[in-house]
Amino acid sequence: MTNYELMIKQAKSLCEEERDYVPVLSNISAMIYESLDRLNWAGFYLMDKGSLLLGPFQGRVACIRIDIGKGVCGTAVQEDRTIRVEDVHQFPGHIACDSRSNSEIVVPLHSDGKIVGVLDIDSPYVSRFSEEDEEGLRKLALLIEEETDFSRLSLE
Ligand code: SME
Repeated sequence: MTNYELMIKQAKSLCEEERDYVPVLSNISAMIYESLDRLNWAGFYLMDKGSLLLGPFQGRVACIRIDIGKGVCGTAVQEDRTIRVEDVHQFPGHIACDSRSNSEIVVPLHSDGKIVGVLDIDSPYVSRFSEEDEEGLRKLALLIEEETDFSRLSLE
């Protein structure tokens, strides 16, 4: 079983008892941070009244609000696509919450056809995230979309 298959199995069991996004995403950020090596931040930004608000995460303190279209996270929402950044210093408008970050991957999350937030993972290593990581994290994001109750969010 690959690391990602294991994480997806573990994530399924984490959603069995409770589907509310706070406990589910808190545990999933802890799981990602423990399961993948060479990370310095793993967590979520969630849609709140038209912009992204800091959600459950593991790592150093991070910026609280990100406007749509700003940084890697806001761009991933605006363009509704996964963004894998080999070197954050080459990404125009990258928001440096932790100066140790050198690469990053951001995967949008949806519920009822709308974007509800993003999964954001940072690494101190350039090019930390491969195509395989992207594929595994997109599968994990699909599971999160299926299993998590985002109804308490105020999206707009
Ligand atoms: N680097 C992100 C901001 C969030 S931190 O990485 C936790 C961005 O450019 O959107």
